[in-house]
Amino acid sequence: MSDAVLLEIDDGIALVTFNRPDKLNALNYDLIDCLMAALDRIETDAAVRAVILTGAGERAFSAGADIHEFAGSVRRGRDTAVRDFVRRGQAMTARLEAFRKPVIAAVNGLAFGGGCEITEAVHLAIASERARFAKPEIDLGMPPTFGGTQRLPRLVGRKRALELLLTGDPFSPQRALEIGLVNRVVTHDVLLPAARELAARIVRHSPLAVGGIITAVTRGLNMGIGEGLQVESEQFAALVPTSDLGEDINAWIERRPPSYSGR
Ligand code: COA
Repeated sequence: MSDAVLLEIDDGIALVTFNRPDKLNALNYDLIDCLMAALDRIETDAAVRAVILTGAGERAFSAGADIHEFAGSVRRGRDTAVRDFVRRGQAMTARLEAFRKPVIAAVNGLAFGGGCEITEAVHLAIASERARFAKPEIDLGMPPTFGGTQRLPRLVGRKRALELLLTGDPFSPQRALEIGLVNRVVTHDVLLPAARELAARIVRHSPLAVGGIITAVTRGLNMGIGEGLQVESEQFAALVPTSDLGEDINAWIERRPPSYSGR
């Protein structure tokens, strides 16, 4: 395993850092594979309750897919380009989106292309005042391929998304906040503390309830409301036999803090 992604676990929160600062944390295949491996590890570690994603160095969260590398896949033809580049990137954003522990992007700088698509896919995002976003794929003669044509319109609305996708123009963190791409903008020096504080406000709750809410919202958004209500009902039903649901209800009735077993 390379060091393209750093993983530090502290107080139940995993800090995952994209670590190619000299390349503005461009997402080469190795970095994507390392991120997936880190998520595998985090998923099975019950002590980890939330994930924060950020970028190493002073300039970038991530400048997007590694153009030098995927250009090689494109030169090898359609099947290789789709298999090595598109499927890998789509699998990464889909995994982040469906992850049952909350994933927070701490956007510390440039979030272009795939860096912006990661911000779209994760559950929550906080941007530094130094962040800068863009959908520059059109400058390369292509649509975004890590879910950007699908998630951004669902997140911010079709016309706002199309303006960003069709112009490729960079936009500010304040604009990202206005359109609902990020939850808040903070001064650069408090970015990670703000992400940790948000994570802490979530992980004080039952991990099973947190996972159920993430799954109901994420799946339901891509369905009609009837099917979405069914997903909501299934997520609740799955919690009914767990001791954590009983514990939360009893703690409320008995006016004491809950204590979770994660089962
Ligand atoms: N893929 C591969 N390498 C990248 C990259 C990317 N997406 N973005 C930046 N890099 C590399 C550059 O090649 C350069 O490496 P080098 O010093 O070995 O040549 C290094 O990161 C610094 O980037 P540079 O372009 O010199 O910085 P800049 O300040 O002049 O420009 C950007 C910053 C973000 C405007 C510019 O790097 C850029 O346009 N990147 C591509 C963004 C993009 O289109 N992403 C979507 C891809 S689908």
